[in-house]
Amino acid sequence: MRSSYALLFLAFINQAFASTTAAPPEWNFVQNGTSGILALEAIFVSPTLAIFFDKASNDPLMINDHAAWGALWNIETNTATPLNVVSDTFCASGGILSNGTMVSVGGHIPIIPAAVDGRMAIRIFEPCADLAGTNCTLFEDPEHLHLEETRWYPSSLRIFDGSLMVVGGIHERTAFYNVDPVNNFEFFPPKDGGVPRPSAFLERSLPANLFPRVFALPDGRVLMIANNQTIIYDIEKNTEIILPDIPNGVRVTNPFDGSATLLPLSPPHFTPEVLVCGGTTTSDQIQPANLSSQDPASSQCSRMTITEEGIKRGWEVEHMLEPRIMPEMLLLPNGEVIIVNGGQTGYAAFNAVKDPVGNQSDADHPAFTPSLYTPNAPLGKRISNKDMPTTNIARLYHSVASLTPLGYVCPPLRTAIIEANLSNNRNILIAGSNPNGEVVNGTKFATEFRVEYLNPPYMSMERPVMSNVPTKIGFNQRFNVDVTIPKNLKASSIKVALMDLGFSSHAFHSSSRLVFMEARLSPDRKKLSILSPPNNRVYPPGPGYIFLTVDDVTSSGAHVMVGNGLPPPVADQGILKI
Ligand SMILES: *[C@@H]1O[C@H](CO)[C@@H](O)[C@H](O)[C@H]1NC(C)=O
Ligand SMILES: *[C@@H]1O[C@H](CO)[C@@H](O)[C@H](O)[C@H]1NC(C)=O
Ligand SMILES: *[C@@H]1O[C@H](CO)[C@@H](O)[C@H](O)[C@H]1NC(C)=O
Ligand SMILES: *[C@@H]1O[C@H](CO)[C@@H](O)[C@H](O)[C@H]1NC(C)=O
Ligand SMILES: *[C@@H]1O[C@H](CO)[C@@H](O)[C@H](O)[C@H]1NC(C)=O
Ligand SMILES: *[C@@H]1O[C@H](CO)[C@@H](O)[C@H](O)[C@H]1NC(C)=O
Ligand SMILES: *[C@@H]1O[C@H](CO)[C@@H](O)[C@H](O)[C@H]1NC(C)=O
Ligand SMILES: *[C@@H]1O[C@H](CO)[C@@H](O)[C@H](O)[C@H]1NC(C)=O
Repeated sequence: MRSSYALLFLAFINQAFASTTAAPPEWNFVQNGTSGILALEAIFVSPTLAIFFDKASNDPLMINDHAAWGALWNIETNTATPLNVVSDTFCASGGILSNGTMVSVGGHIPIIPAAVDGRMAIRIFEPCADLAGTNCTLFEDPEHLHLEETRWYPSSLRIFDGSLMVVGGIHERTAFYNVDPVNNFEFFPPKDGGVPRPSAFLERSLPANLFPRVFALPDGRVLMIANNQTIIYDIEKNTEIILPDIPNGVRVTNPFDGSATLLPLSPPHFTPEVLVCGGTTTSDQIQPANLSSQDPASSQCSRMTITEEGIKRGWEVEHMLEPRIMPEMLLLPNGEVIIVNGGQTGYAAFNAVKDPVGNQSDADHPAFTPSLYTPNAPLGKRISNKDMPTTNIARLYHSVASLTPLGYVCPPLRTAIIEANLSNNRNILIAGSNPNGEVVNGTKFATEFRVEYLNPPYMSMERPVMSNVPTKIGFNQRFNVDVTIPKNLKASSIKVALMDLGFSSHAFHSSSRLVFMEARLSPDRKKLSILSPPNNRVYPPGPGYIFLTVDDVTSSGAHVMVGNGLPPPVADQGILKI
């Protein structure tokens, strides 16, 4: 009797361990691998690879007999490979151009001799076809290829012609506020003969306007949020329209970092709405010596529709479940927004305010539990952490987060292992945290190298699979993909998202975007007919990932080039009247 029970039990255990999808379908955190360098900035540059940048400092990963400050993170192997970087990438920015090339801009004066001054840097990473990143590297030529201004803490954004717009920053390091500002914009490749454009907005929003939160609106204009102020900037006319301030004294840009995101854009009107969460109500006139790591952050989320009527209605306010300084907000392929990372008290930066925690943290009381924001739920019912897991890894200053492409690789590179179901634990990449001047170990809020993934329930379920996805799509074009939809899904809801995964730095995801595409499923559930975005203003031309969500179960992302794939500036494409 006994032994047959034991056998049965063993058989059960064996079965549980044999199956890769044994984890119950629920949200979870999985820690896997270490980043080698501090992940202070992160951007996916291929379906399998993200680039991490830190400052040139004392990171453990080595290259050419010195500490590395750039690395390629491989989501298949969960390992970091050092990148050869010439200039100091400390608090730089970046994005991907219309031809798929990643460009990193700005940085700082290095504290180690292995690096050169990165403040005017332009670093080029050409599209990388090798899954492991072999032979893919950065190109820099500081003498001949550089910005017009020295910029530390700028933002950057891919705009309607596929160029990168570079916004603001500070000339060089100061302890806390922007007291040496670069109050202008420039572009890469350059416009206006390389002469930067002065910005009244950047001047008005001093001294807490670093890493401005900037968004490409679906008409090609740019929404900008800095400190407690908001404008729409028209690149073609060089004019600004002032929008209402963020209410209740909340300020949201560095060193008072809240986060902001453009909510998903949906056909047929692609009406833009912006959501801004966290930050602080502290006045920007108080010197840092009179601020404390224990000052409460703001829990406020403010949302506005960027149309004439929406702007008249102004900001709609609700509250997160906890205050957060330095949160990140990530768009998910089903249209929800995840809020992760940050502290419940204090500020960004390090070694600036009273009551430093650990070595030099200006913030304390990490927010360990993510929340979900559901844009279509009624006001006051949009934010929830029901069913959310809790981590024990603090993600404070200099942390990153990004949705991963989930391991999908386009044919012909696609291989059996990638197509296999190995990617059930790598949906949302979270890394970094170093509220200290350099790499420190053994204190509270020491430099964090552990990489974590946050996974939605669908990662442990049988998921829809897309195949024969075109590698390049034009605007306003109908195209077909083959799909395999698990039998147990009713397919009562089908969502097809085109996403730019963005560049993560300082609690903000520049260029991140989700455009829903109109899609029809064939009666036999084997083919999807999809209509691409109407033009290059709704989705700035360049690479993206297509995700299919059936009911609430999301596929892997398929990498596509959207538009003609030419180097910027590219001409308008598609139908402009929508
Ligand atoms: C910090 O710890 C990491 C890993 O735990 C180690 O590789 C590195 O050498 C340490 N660095 C310093 C500056 O102590
Ligand atoms: C960590 O990643 C490696 C490489 O993909 C994988 O083999 C391993 O199963 C992962 N571990 C966990 C705990 O997910
Ligand atoms: C990398 O470059 C070397 C030297 O040019 C070449 O032999 C090798 O095939 C390349 N590897 C890949 C994966 O592209
Ligand atoms: C925004 O900040 C400015 C400068 O500190 C202040 O004058 C203004 O009242 C603030 N706006 C709101 C709505 O609090
Ligand atoms: C701090 O506050 C005190 C009292 O309000 C003031 O006298 C002092 O100048 C402030 N110090 C700084 C550095 O702002
Ligand atoms: C922080 O760490 C650095 C590097 O280890 C050290 O030089 C410095 O004294 C530490 N500061 C504090 C306040 O502990
Ligand atoms: C992936 O999982 C699905 C469903 O569990 C299964 O049908 C398929 O064979 C798996 N693919 C591979 C390559 O193992
Ligand atoms: C993309 O365009 C940029 C800017 O002109 C250029 O530096 C880069 O080499 C181009 N890359 C490709 C693959 O065309």
